[in-house]
Amino acid sequence: MRRIAVINQKGGVGKTTTSVNVGAGLARAGHRVLLIDLDPQAHLTLHLGLNPAEGRPGVYELLTGTTTLSAARTQVSNNLWVVGASIDLAAAEVELVSIVGREVILRDLIDQHVEENGGADPYDYVVMDCPPSLGVLTLNGLCAAKEVVLPLQPHYLALQGLSKLFETVSLVGKRINPELTVTGVVICMKEAGTRLGAEVVEDVRGFLEAARNTPVPWRNARVFETAIRRNIKLAEAPSYGQSIFDYAADSNGAKDYEALAAEIHDPVAFAARSQAQSQTVAPAEPATPPESVAPAEPTAPAESAGAGESQSDASAVSVVTDSSAGSEAQAAPEAQVMPEAVAASEPVVTVETPPAAEPEPQPASAEPEVVPPAEAAVEPVQSEPYSSAILPHPASQSPQTDAFPPPSANLRVCG
Ligand SMILES: Nc1ncnc2c1ncn2[C@@H]1O[C@H](COP(=O)(O)OP(=O)(O)OP(=O)(O)O)[C@@H](O)[C@H]1O
Ligand SMILES: [Mg+2]
Repeated sequence: MRRIAVINQKGGVGKTTTSVNVGAGLARAGHRVLLIDLDPQAHLTLHLGLNPAEGRPGVYELLTGTTTLSAARTQVSNNLWVVGASIDLAAAEVELVSIVGREVILRDLIDQHVEENGGADPYDYVVMDCPPSLGVLTLNGLCAAKEVVLPLQPHYLALQGLSKLFETVSLVGKRINPELTVTGVVICMKEAGTRLGAEVVEDVRGFLEAARNTPVPWRNARVFETAIRRNIKLAEAPSYGQSIFDYAADSNGAKDYEALAAEIHDPVAFAARSQAQSQTVAPAEPATPPESVAPAEPTAPAESAGAGESQSDASAVSVVTDSSAGSEAQAAPEAQVMPEAVAASEPVVTVETPPAAEPEPQPASAEPEVVPPAEAAVEPVQSEPYSSAILPHPASQSPQTDAFPPPSANLRVCG
């Protein structure tokens, strides 16, 4: 059973969209998937058509020991179960503060769930959508996970805080969960034809490359080949309570998340398939831009040539809500009895939640969304890495020694 935490303390980078649609993509491919919503905003819960206000037990009840995983999960489609969140979960950060082993409650509950199943894995994947903070909820995700998947928007400012994030993963790996590894970075909301995005990706790639053969949890991490393009259907799907596969199966969003799920499931087979496909492409054919853009009108917002699909910024587009469309995704929770949560004997990590992530300002360079392909191809490469002030450049600094500040004053390990 693969246990994946989808984390980034930066808000709005695509964690929930990735958790939902990778989970749904894996489920469609025949894998049994449990999604756990660790965010009090309950966006994953809403995205899959569940109403957090309905009073169904969820992650809050799990972490406070008043329900079991079997009772808290709801099946939303074939092979896909969800443990939902509600705003109550915000209180868990405070309520759990005096509980010994509070970071490993979720891990223990998942282990118990497996034991109840006669030791056989009840799912092929558990995917945990973490909130945009590094508090006790994210720590529960990191302690219950074996893998980390990190969604990243390819903006300069998106790199800010990455060192802190890797530092937290490293600390959890050292103190509590030595099996924890960073599987990869997913580029989300990729804009067609922007040079900045490519530079950010190169910087992250270089940073990860520099960690090869070092004892850090991201030594085998990679930037996934599949980048998720900005696609309005992905932004609309939550308001219909549906995954992208149910909402717009032919959209670029569905294609991208189907590919990402396949790449996460089996990167070797995925690479072989991609290579075979690229060999069948006629070499003389010029490469098409990643998304359908109109090269003749570089100042207009990017628009897809597809059936009503827009590539413009999701926040600028009004979304028509039809809650009835997602109602078929409801199913009764399964009632099974499970023992109470077991207090763990692991060392205690005390975390003070950092201030909430600020909304990301749009860098000026991200605004011109459309760059004519010909121009993009001849743009000169900057001599100095633009992001070196934030993410130390691998050529000059080792990730182990210099990349990170000393352990944060916010994260103390006692006992
Ligand atoms: N590829 C995409 N194209 C267009 N819109 C997207 C894409 N991915 C995500 N979005 C939209 O961007 C917004 C933020 O995405 P999402 O909720 O997945 O981010 P998040 O990291 O989970 O946010 P938070 O930190 O608040 O939990 C949402 O409105 C979502 O629908
Ligand atoms: Mg989210």
